Amino acid sequence: MENCTFYIFLCIKIGENMKNIAIFASGTGTNAENIIRYFSKNETIRVSVVLSNNQKVEVHTRVNKLGVPSFVFSREEFQEGKAVLKKLIEYNVDLIVLAGFMTKISVPLLEAFPNKIINIHPALLPKFGGKGMYGIHVHEAVVAAGEKETGITIHYVNSYYDEGEILFQAQCPVLSTDTPEDVAIKVHSLEYKYYPVVIEKLLQ
Ligand code: GRF
Repeated sequence: MENCTFYIFLCIKIGENMKNIAIFASGTGTNAENIIRYFSKNETIRVSVVLSNNQKVEVHTRVNKLGVPSFVFSREEFQEGKAVLKKLIEYNVDLIVLAGFMTKISVPLLEAFPNKIINIHPALLPKFGGKGMYGIHVHEAVVAAGEKETGITIHYVNSYYDEGEILFQAQCPVLSTDTPEDVAIKVHSLEYKYYPVVIEKLLQ
């Protein structure tokens, strides 16, 4: 009996110290998977839930396979905030990580998580940011502009697309022979390398 009480006490203590991440994703979810794997053996930080605005995307199977639950909310529910906030509270979320999330973060969410929502953008902001600059469109614009380098930007989220305070950037070269797809591969590998590390630093 004493052992049992101690075990419950220990579980509560461990739960208290655990930092919980929610990932918001709308697409393939390779970053979501990479972040989950990175923290899978961490004793104080974990990805506890994934939220999406789209049921028909690959992120669900990717994360569910790793034991992380995912939930879908409509664009309107993300805008209005209540149901999403309820889910975030249920999972005791400390940090919201956007990874290819295609819906604007609404004021109720921003107010409930001040400086606790971050995004990754696949270019060196303030260049190649803003509405319409997502996915392959970003890399097409980079190649068309004849840029010699591109990279990633990790930033806090505010009410304007890609305008929150920058936390971290990393660069990679763009060769004159690179196609947008070549650039996408280089940028993705920077994302896999650095996004989890920046998240970890924020939660320490
Ligand atoms: C990434 O390139 C990220 O920078 C951008 O959306 C993409 C998501 O890719 N915000 P994935 O779904 O994680 O593969």
